[in-house]
Amino acid sequence: MSKIALITGITGQDGAFLARHLIDLGYEVHGVIRRSSAPNIHRLSRIVAPELANGTLKLHYGDMTDFSSMVRIVGDTRPHEIYNLAAQSHVAVSFETPEYTASADGIGPLRLLEAIRIAGLTHHTRFYQASTSELYGKVHEIPQRETTPFHPRSPYGVAKLYGYWITVNYREAYGMHASNGILFNHEGELRGELFVTRKITKAVGRMALGHRQPLRLGNLDAQRDWGDAQEYIRGMHLILQQETPDDYVLATGEMHSVREFVEVALNHIDKQVVWEGEGVDEVGICKATGERLVMVDKDFFRPAEVELLLGDPSKAKEKLGWSHEKDFKHLVADMVQADIRRQELISQNGIELEDFL
Ligand code: NAP
Ligand code: GDD
Repeated sequence: MSKIALITGITGQDGAFLARHLIDLGYEVHGVIRRSSAPNIHRLSRIVAPELANGTLKLHYGDMTDFSSMVRIVGDTRPHEIYNLAAQSHVAVSFETPEYTASADGIGPLRLLEAIRIAGLTHHTRFYQASTSELYGKVHEIPQRETTPFHPRSPYGVAKLYGYWITVNYREAYGMHASNGILFNHEGELRGELFVTRKITKAVGRMALGHRQPLRLGNLDAQRDWGDAQEYIRGMHLILQQETPDDYVLATGEMHSVREFVEVALNHIDKQVVWEGEGVDEVGICKATGERLVMVDKDFFRPAEVELLLGDPSKAKEKLGWSHEKDFKHLVADMVQADIRRQELISQNGIELEDFL
């Protein structure tokens, strides 16, 4: 009999890749989706089209803020493994919707854990919580590891802090197999377009096809530990395969600035950027033509910023045998290349790709 997995957030970047991975491993996969006024499964349908078409991937309507739907879905599916990936995951947006973010990202994991207990699955279902390097926020040490104290800097980070601790608490209180993956930023061609990496590679893809709109960004000096999403979802699965539940950092151990990301992405289309001015007046100019490629826009700064994140993945390497492979330059190049292909399709068909997927 195949193992049953339930993925919340299956329509997101990680959810789509994880669904593919688990199906390939022989799991029966169920996913939670939200009702939306327009289709929200374009990422998922790119990755698991046959399984969606033949019904072997089963989708259930629910919402992390709706306890009754959690109870119903967990009770109906009786999963061996739950991957809780659903979240309002945009840090800047969490300042605009702090209470909703607290409910979905903080209390959401509690609702799921309680749903497991109510269904009588306390010692049957293994639980993965999508925790985050945003917990480290204003960092207390560099690099950050599992023992580094937390200091979140946004309503998102604070909500995820509750999610982290309630997972630890249910493990300690009820003996549940509940684990946190403390994942540093991970990216790829399915990354949401409002995260900085995809925003950059989408703009560079458009520039490659001759578009002249400059890219507007906020803090160019923020530094992140960026890895490849497909590698990180394999780590999530490994965490739940351990005999003992525990918490793990997944990271590359390398850090780059937003500015560097822009430079490497533009180099990929043979443009070299020269920076002029300071603060909100800074601009990125094309060395060859003098054209404005990048502008700083104060609207993209956050009320409190996480200036740098750098992870130490030693524990994951030692205990899970997990480590990252794709380096920064290849990650950026692959994302730019995917966005160029996408822009070519859009210009050939005259519509956004999502519209016909
Ligand atoms: P994402 O692309 O933004 O996907 C988020 C998913 O959550 C989507 O499927 C979304 O559904 C769903 N969702 C949002 N609010 C929900 C609600 N109230 N009820 C049910 N579903 C809801 O995020 P991701 O990058 O794949 O990240 C996956 C998880 O890992 C998130 O929890 C994120 O906070 C965490 N994380 C991500 C990273 C990273 O670098 N990517 C790093 C550390 C932790 P819709 O499609 O309907 O919006
Ligand atoms: N989104 C965005 N847009 N960020 C910008 C921009 C911009 O125009 N300009 C500069 N940045 C900076 C942000 O201020 C931040 O310091 C950095 O780029 C990265 O921003 P995001 O790509 O939005 O990601 P994040 O690091 O805030 O959050 C992501 O990673 C977390 C893990 O560390 C999300 O995926 C979270 O859900 C995840 O937990």
